[in-house]
Amino acid sequence: MKVPFYGHQRQYTGMKAEIDANLQAVLESGQYVQGPMLKRFEAELASYVGAKYAIGVGNGTDALWLAFMALGLDAGDEVITNANTFFATAEAIWIAGATAVLVDCDPLTKCLDPAAVRRAVTRRTKAIVPVHLYGQCAPMRDIRKIADEFGLFVIEDNAQAFDARGDDFAIGELSDVVCTSFIIQKNLGTFGDGGALWTNLAYVNDKVRKLRNHGSSKRDVHSFGFNSRLDDLHAGVLSAKLRHIRAWSDRRIAIAARYTAGLQDCAFLDLPHVRPGYRHVFHLYVVETKNPADRNRFLDYLVAQGVDAKTHYSVAIHQQEGFPWGKDARLAGPLVHAEKNAASCISLPMFPELTDAEVDYTIQVVKAWPQHSAGTKA
Ligand SMILES: Cc1ncc(COP(=O)(O)O)c(C=O)c1O
Repeated sequence: MKVPFYGHQRQYTGMKAEIDANLQAVLESGQYVQGPMLKRFEAELASYVGAKYAIGVGNGTDALWLAFMALGLDAGDEVITNANTFFATAEAIWIAGATAVLVDCDPLTKCLDPAAVRRAVTRRTKAIVPVHLYGQCAPMRDIRKIADEFGLFVIEDNAQAFDARGDDFAIGELSDVVCTSFIIQKNLGTFGDGGALWTNLAYVNDKVRKLRNHGSSKRDVHSFGFNSRLDDLHAGVLSAKLRHIRAWSDRRIAIAARYTAGLQDCAFLDLPHVRPGYRHVFHLYVVETKNPADRNRFLDYLVAQGVDAKTHYSVAIHQQEGFPWGKDARLAGPLVHAEKNAASCISLPMFPELTDAEVDYTIQVVKAWPQHSAGTKA
């Protein structure tokens, strides 16, 4: 059996009529940039996430740096974030001209460790960017407390956790801005690139709307800005998909529960940890080999058996060659958990259209791995 890592075509096939109808509506409207479909999707998104304003932009990376710029972050300002995240989180801090301060993660959830954040705060710190890694919210109450104590902005990097929530908090409830990515492989993804921000702050909404459109809110009148808009065709795809996101998240959660039950006795692996009461939407189902030396051999074995596994992310930000390339960066404290995660992570196939038979085959292949290192038992 072959188990793919992504199910983009399956998803499209399953809802072809809805997507095609929206695309056709855009094509026939004659309005493709900042047109009615974008306005409709922004309104639907704001209502779904419970925010006053939602703004579609070109991609998730732009969403982050547009948020930083709208909040006034500048050269010399420090922004604390995960050392273990997709590269774009740190990249966006540098694009905004600020200093990325990389801190360690919690060893169980891989989300920001609030104690490490607190230790990293200096007089230059202006913001914290918790990443809701793999689909689980960072501990936002602890992070908000630190932000309040030191007067910091909080910008959530929600590229991986659309439709997640904490135990007693919703995404966006405890921050200034939420940023997300709609690249195809995300839980809510378009056929290409896209992104969005949402916020309750009117000045951030106004600023980002101008920044994304060459600094303009009125024809021929500009201030400094960029071009980063969500095209109406993508908005049409996302509008159709938004109606399914709750069911898709539930299916991801069910697949994760099946993996976790099936792999419970697999002593050479650590399985994902869900904080009690959190809605972890499993953008990725990431296991770790207890012995990092096993990882690459295990990955090769899975692929050879037809299970398309991947790594997210095998190189932490500060371990990238040439880091920090003349950009401003600071490592705050030891990054042992982030480094262990990079050395031992493996993502098993995870998407809503995955069948139970494919999940069971994957479990069977994982459990049958004969070559795990001595000192761990199968
Ligand atoms: C955690 C995280 N932040 C930011 C991004 C950047 O999003 P994009 O690729 O849409 O620029 C991604 C994904 O790509 C991501 O996973």
